[in-house]
Amino acid sequence: MAVPSLALSDGVRIPQLLFGVAGLSAAETGRAVRIALDTGYRGIDTAPGTEAAVGAVLAAAEVPREDLFVSVHVPAQGYDTARRAADQALTALGLERADLCLLDGTKGAFTDTWRVLSRLRADGRVRAAGVAGFGVAELRRLIDATGSVPTVNQVELHPWLQQLPLRDFHAEHGILTAASSPAANSALLADETVTALAAKYGKTPSQIVLRWHLQTGTVAVAASVTTTRTREHFGIFDFELADDDLAVVAELDNGTRV
Ligand SMILES: NC(=O)c1ccc[n+]([C@@H]2O[C@H](COP(=O)([O-])OP(=O)(O)OC[C@H]3O[C@@H](n4cnc5c(N)ncnc54)[C@H](OP(=O)(O)O)[C@@H]3O)[C@@H](O)[C@H]2O)c1
Repeated sequence: MAVPSLALSDGVRIPQLLFGVAGLSAAETGRAVRIALDTGYRGIDTAPGTEAAVGAVLAAAEVPREDLFVSVHVPAQGYDTARRAADQALTALGLERADLCLLDGTKGAFTDTWRVLSRLRADGRVRAAGVAGFGVAELRRLIDATGSVPTVNQVELHPWLQQLPLRDFHAEHGILTAASSPAANSALLADETVTALAAKYGKTPSQIVLRWHLQTGTVAVAASVTTTRTREHFGIFDFELADDDLAVVAELDNGTRV
């Protein structure tokens, strides 16, 4: 089953379901990514420190490079340090270029880090540049300071935290929304509305939540070290939530962060 994809503002296509590895050890990353590829995932969202383990699995896998979408994260920091971090990440990954590079976080010198990403894109080492963890104020600062608009903003987003003002800003500026913690780090799976919808559709709570992401036009970064769950998360392409059920999920927005 092919994962649907969306076009970024610069034309690069991104799968709507990515597999994330943040917080995993190298051994866990290698195993989890192998299982994800076997399951059918083609988009891998790496995290700092996981690139070599991801790269080793991709090098051994019989999946054509053009079918893969691989993102790297560079934490916000000064130009030279960010440049070194990005070089290390891309070298460890072992690909000629990454599909997306995300400037991650706003606590460091993020406009300097953005200049590194712009340079990498100009040099052809990454196909697209985006950010992670930015709010409207920081996006405005970045755009005002650099004159460029990120293609993606990856933020915590799920039915309890729908980020509507941020998504309106994204829509105005052609920024695609990617959802980290798409199931509120599993807390949402016990939500009564979600479990009722799971019973109604004969699906699991995870599948209801990930399907909601698909239908609301976000890219969901699903993550699991459990083989059965990795497969379960992929089982979202054979059903559709009705409009009234999407409206029911819209009512769950209560600002809860994980
Ligand atoms: N840029 C950032 O700052 C940032 C921040 C957070 C996340 N992210 C990205 O987003 C990805 C996903 O974040 P997330 O892990 O919070 O995603 P999530 O999909 O909301 O939650 C996944 C977690 O829920 C658990 N889980 C899944 N199904 C379950 C079930 N049926 N019962 C109990 N537990 C279940 C998984 O445990 P098991 O692994 O044990 O199956 C996993 O720990 C990360 O890997 C990362 O790539 C980025």
